[in-house]
Amino acid sequence: MKKIYKAHILYTKDKDHFEVLENGYVAVDTDGRVTGVAADLASLGADASQCRNTEIIDFGDRLLIPAMNDLHVHAAQYRNQGIAMDLELMEWLQEYTFPEEMKYADTVYAERMYRRFVRDLWRVGTMRTCTFASIHTESTRMLMHLFREAGMGALVGKVAMNRNCPEGLSESVEEMVKGYESLIVETFPETSPETSLQAPYPPLVRPIITPRFIPSCPPEMLRACSELASKYQLPVQSHLSENRDEIALVQKLEGTWYGDAYNRYGLFGQTPTVMAHCVFTEEEEMQLMKRNDVVVAHCPTSNLNVTTGIAPIRQFLNEGVRVGLGSDISGGHNLSIFQVMVYAIQLSKAYYQQHHERPYLTLSEAFWMATKCGGSFFGKVGSFEPGYEFDALVIDDSDLNHDHYTLLDRLERYIYVGDDRQIVHRFCRGKEIPEPKVNL
Ligand code: GUN
Ligand code: FE
Repeated sequence: MKKIYKAHILYTKDKDHFEVLENGYVAVDTDGRVTGVAADLASLGADASQCRNTEIIDFGDRLLIPAMNDLHVHAAQYRNQGIAMDLELMEWLQEYTFPEEMKYADTVYAERMYRRFVRDLWRVGTMRTCTFASIHTESTRMLMHLFREAGMGALVGKVAMNRNCPEGLSESVEEMVKGYESLIVETFPETSPETSLQAPYPPLVRPIITPRFIPSCPPEMLRACSELASKYQLPVQSHLSENRDEIALVQKLEGTWYGDAYNRYGLFGQTPTVMAHCVFTEEEEMQLMKRNDVVVAHCPTSNLNVTTGIAPIRQFLNEGVRVGLGSDISGGHNLSIFQVMVYAIQLSKAYYQQHHERPYLTLSEAFWMATKCGGSFFGKVGSFEPGYEFDALVIDDSDLNHDHYTLLDRLERYIYVGDDRQIVHRFCRGKEIPEPKVNL
């Protein structure tokens, strides 16, 4: 049955404005797509006859907003969240991160940790996730299965790597390709032309080609990743220009700058591509990202924790480069994209205080990065405009004491001081998502 939801609706069509509908309505069809959003039923085009086949759900004095999208997170680092924060990137990887990821050779361990990971994403209101798993095909398959079982959207990357890392976290190019192909076949089973025509969407959970970063991948590995992406038309994710030592190493290994190195292998926008961090991206790299429509996953908590620096987000936005937000667990410590929004704004204020020349990020910009702009990497996701998939959160902020606040104040206050206790409903692609099961 079609649905019409009534609530105080807030979303961003563009980065500079919130759309605010007090006691507004959003109509969703049986495929889970928004068909209209309006201040009253008449403007929605819902006359009495249409309403007969439609369920109207009234959320009263609650806020209805698009769900969060996390554009960069490491599922296989979940156990390390909030620990091991005393080193810079390259040492941190070798000493804490790689040893943890090696444990995912064991699918029993993987299932236990991945179930918590998916449940906790649900808790914080993240309905779409672009995630790194580990090199292990069976654990990656498990993570994809858990997202599917939960009904939550995810692009899941089996990590390709085999240099500058321990033996147990290294895989041959052939094994990597074979592992990916088995995940791809499972995701896209051959369907009859009729079925594929009827299907309104791509699968909610899909593989994404994931070379870890250039220091982990020799040329043969990068070439194989690029061939997989091109052959199966799959998206690509990796890390870019995060840390000065890393950038110097890439220059030494590849004899060119970081973005150019990915680009030479066909891993820089030849299929949809998201690159985490981009802290030290300079003009040439930024222009190439713009030309190739490479998306930035901005991870402010991670940049603070592993002491990398402040990414030039204002410049990316001015150039029209798409930017979404990432929690980057476990470089980042906080899984909530609401909290990542706060850090993004605060970090941009620190940048502004030092440089003076550019205005810092606004709330609407941070919200737009977390919803519509980040969501664009998954399809038509992150807004309530007609045609968008209905991914939404209902927020009951009554205990945050909102007596004299405007609706925008209420949203800002929820972002800054609220948490998962105020999220009372979660929707992904039109379906209400119940709490995923965890076997502790
Ligand atoms: N660069 C390569 N691997 C990683 C990782 O796991 N985390 C972060 N923050 N940067 C990386
Ligand atoms: Fe990362």
